[in-house]
Amino acid sequence: MFLNITQKIIKSHLVSGNMIAGEEISIKIDQTLTQDSTGTMAYLEFEAIGIPRVKTKRSVAYIDHNTLQSGFENADDHKYIQTVTKKHGIYFSRPGNGICHQVHLERFGIPGQTLLGSDSHTPTGGGLGMLAIGAGGLDVAVAMGGGAYYITMPKVVKVNLVGKLKPWVAAKDIILEVLRLLTVKGGVGKVIEYSGEGVKTLSVPERATITNMGAELGATTSVFPSDDITKEFLKAQGRESDFSYILPDDDAAYDEEITIDLSKLVPLAAKPHMPDNVDTVKNIGKIKVDQVAIGSCTNSSYMDMMKVAKILKGKTVAEDVSLVISPGSRQVLNMLSQNGALADMISAGARILETACGPCIGMGQSPKTDAISLRTFNRNFEGRSGTKSAQVYLVSPETAALSAINGYLSDPTELDISNEIEMPEKFLINDNMVVEPAPENNDVEVVRGPNIKEYPVNGKLEMSVTGKALIKVEDNITTDHIMPSNAKLLPFRSNVPYLSNFCLAPCDDKFPERAKENGGGFIIAGSNYGQGSSREHAALAPLYLGIKGVIAKSFARIHMANLINSGILPMTFADEADYDKIDMMDTLVIDNLLDSVKNDNSLVVKNVTKGTEFKVNFALSDRQRDIMALGGLLNYTKEMSK
Ligand code: F3S
Repeated sequence: MFLNITQKIIKSHLVSGNMIAGEEISIKIDQTLTQDSTGTMAYLEFEAIGIPRVKTKRSVAYIDHNTLQSGFENADDHKYIQTVTKKHGIYFSRPGNGICHQVHLERFGIPGQTLLGSDSHTPTGGGLGMLAIGAGGLDVAVAMGGGAYYITMPKVVKVNLVGKLKPWVAAKDIILEVLRLLTVKGGVGKVIEYSGEGVKTLSVPERATITNMGAELGATTSVFPSDDITKEFLKAQGRESDFSYILPDDDAAYDEEITIDLSKLVPLAAKPHMPDNVDTVKNIGKIKVDQVAIGSCTNSSYMDMMKVAKILKGKTVAEDVSLVISPGSRQVLNMLSQNGALADMISAGARILETACGPCIGMGQSPKTDAISLRTFNRNFEGRSGTKSAQVYLVSPETAALSAINGYLSDPTELDISNEIEMPEKFLINDNMVVEPAPENNDVEVVRGPNIKEYPVNGKLEMSVTGKALIKVEDNITTDHIMPSNAKLLPFRSNVPYLSNFCLAPCDDKFPERAKENGGGFIIAGSNYGQGSSREHAALAPLYLGIKGVIAKSFARIHMANLINSGILPMTFADEADYDKIDMMDTLVIDNLLDSVKNDNSLVVKNVTKGTEFKVNFALSDRQRDIMALGGLLNYTKEMSK
């Protein structure tokens, strides 16, 4: 059988399943990465699994998100991550070393391997020919513990690139074109695989810009071949031994195919407030610009920065524009400082920021009210910049730099200077800001500041349970209702006991107190309970409060999976009319809970207060039955790794 790249990598990592699109498969994970905003929870989860040493080939923890330390919480998180990683065999990239995806590409990524990261832009690694997927912290913790990662076998879309980009048209314009064609929903359940002669004209960092923003398509991931260009890149990074060819078979089949002629592309921009709201820079016209921000995991490579420096050299940033630049890694910043490009940027009036996510994650540089902000980032959702009324356009570094000089949106193809930049034969290699893990059986002390609290772990499922209906909520309760995530609560992601005080508070602020007083119980809900984000805290806070089960008319898919992962049974009313027959504080009893979960798809709940009973259903795979019986995915992983 002839295979494409996606199928080849999946096949060589397949643990279970049949590789039929739409069916569940599980794959072995070679590498993991975390960033600090999601990493703290991932390492608390890893500790709770109780495995002394990671079982992956390489795991790396990066500090790049919450680097503005305006309170002790973030600094505490960083210290915790630094010590817990040292103890358990994980590499630690110190603050200042760069953005996770950029550094991972430079120093750790390996073609043909699988990478699971607790960040949605982990697919950046696809630029190196990795199958790189973004996931939740618990999935990453399980992968570090040696557990397989479960996904739906994706369809594979071939994007056939032909021709060559014109001068000053960029990789960013390619992915914006893909977004224009496929939209932000176009990649769901799919891997976007790049192919064709045009691939050979793109460097690894350019490919990584494209795979990075595949996340905006909703794709499982995106992937490029690993070819001679990849070999050159790895050689220049002193890592030629990590190289191998990963190419599709000649007659490989794909589920869908589109062709993009690179020679026909022109500079593009994603207009407010969606990455697929794409038009040409020319069509949008010379709108006045207030802020230009260059950097992020999408566009902060050495080549990106050199093009920016070339445009800025000898010029001055327009009077009404604030230009901020954050190089993607210390390697990039160091090289720019040594070859004089940094001086060109500074002379032009650019404000140089730390090599971190910075304004992309809203860490500073919110633009002024009603500002037009051009950004080389990957997302322009309303308010993400920190200023609700700002209008954010996503553009290439080339378009951004020229616009900063002119003061209005400008098309870089009008530049009359050469765009040639030599890819360095050797990058500046210095890994002294990557802390190596301690040897096995070490006595490293894990430092836990007051903000680091233990991860709540459920006990094994009981044979029968009794509890009160602690709250009764309506239809369409979101994960934001269940576990609010506002700026005040964000620094407490590693502190579930504190967060649980706000669980379901937007519906009923007495709920957390009531749950504690009664030693836990049940949540009664309407339809579509748990819609919204994949936030695992929306299951962890109820777990901490002793919730034994949620009985709803229906559930949102991801939240239902998160409840099962926490060992909380999601049950649906067999007859929705029974919802109306329960009142808050009724006492509910489930006999034979464990047996039912192991063997059935339904059970009977007794309402002792009313003297009635009603039937509920639950849909569990065999694996989920085992997870529930053992009290959640952590206990299950522990058991499986014995
Ligand atoms: Fe950081 Fe923004 Fe990328 S937050 S990881 S630079 S999407």
